[in-house]
Amino acid sequence: MKRFEDKVVAITGGGSGMGKLSCELFAAEGATVCVVDINPETAAATADGILAAGGRAKAWTVDITNEQAMERFFQDVVDTFGQIDVFFTVAGISPTGTAVTTSYEAFRKVVSLDMDSVFLGCKYAIPHMEKHGGGVILNLVGTYGIRPTPNKLGYAAAKAGALAITRSVAIDFARSNIRCNAICPGFVNTPLNTGFEGEARQRFLDTYQPAPFEIQAKDIADTALFLASDEARAITGQAIVVDGGTEASLYLNYKRPGKS
Ligand SMILES: NC(=O)c1ccc[n+]([C@@H]2O[C@H](COP(=O)([O-])OP(=O)(O)OC[C@H]3O[C@@H](n4cnc5c(N)ncnc54)[C@H](O)[C@@H]3O)[C@@H](O)[C@H]2O)c1
Repeated sequence: MKRFEDKVVAITGGGSGMGKLSCELFAAEGATVCVVDINPETAAATADGILAAGGRAKAWTVDITNEQAMERFFQDVVDTFGQIDVFFTVAGISPTGTAVTTSYEAFRKVVSLDMDSVFLGCKYAIPHMEKHGGGVILNLVGTYGIRPTPNKLGYAAAKAGALAITRSVAIDFARSNIRCNAICPGFVNTPLNTGFEGEARQRFLDTYQPAPFEIQAKDIADTALFLASDEARAITGQAIVVDGGTEASLYLNYKRPGKS
C-alpha cells in the first residue's frame, strides 16, 4: 500500500513551483489531492497531469486571503471527499523592501498572503480534522521567518508570524491528534526566482550556501511527505530547515580553489 492511499491532501500554490511538485508527489503516493491556486489554468493543469498519470486530483480556484472562500473550500472538500487529512500551505510571495521603502499597502499585502492565509487555513481546516480524528498541517515558511536578511522586512515579518501560528497550533491541538510544522527552505530553484539566474545566482549560492548544489522543489516536497507521514508522528511545532546549511553558517563566502 502506498503511503497516503486513503488520505485527502490539500495543497495551496498547487499551480507552480513547490506546491505543484508536492501535489504530484502526494498523488504518486496514493493521496487524493486538492490542488488549490488563485490561477485556475495552472491549478487545472496540475490536476489534469495527476489524472493523466492515473492519480486522483481535483482543482480548486481559491484566493487563500479571502476568509469566506477559505471556509467554503474546506466545506467543499469534505462534502466531496468526506475528509481532509493533510493541509499544506505553500502559496506565497516574496517582496523586497526596508521599513522605509515598503509602502503600507505592500506590507499589508505580504502579511495577508504569507501570514493571514496560514491563520485562515488552520482556522477552517482544524474543525474538520478534529471531527475525523486528527490531521497534519504544514506551512511553507522559509529561513527568513527565523532570521531575516537585509531588505526583506515585510516578508520576514509575515513568515515569522506564520511560524508563530504554526507553533501555537501545534501546542493547542496536539491532544486532538493534529500536528503542525513549518518547512523552512533556503534558496530553491522555482519560478519564484525567475530572473535571478546564471552568474548572479551562482555567486549568491557560493557566498551563502554550504551545500554545493541547488536545492530543488523535490527536496521540499520530500520533506513534506515525511512530515505528513506517520513516521513523523512525534514531530510537531517545529521549523524544519531545508537549506543546505545556510542558516547554520556565519559568513560562509566560499572561494573556489584557484579563484581569488
Ligand atoms: N523559492 C524559494 O527560494 C523559496 C524559499 C523559501 C520560501 N519560499 C516560499 O515558498 C512558497 C512558494 O514558493 P514557490 O517558489 O513555489 O512559488 P511560485 O511563485 O512558484 O508559486 C506560488 C503559487 O502561489 C499562487 N498564489 C499566489 N497568490 C495566491 C493566492 N492569493 N491564493 C492562492 N494561490 C496563490 C501562485 O499563483 C503560484 O501558483 C512561498 O510562500 C515562498 O515565500 C520560497
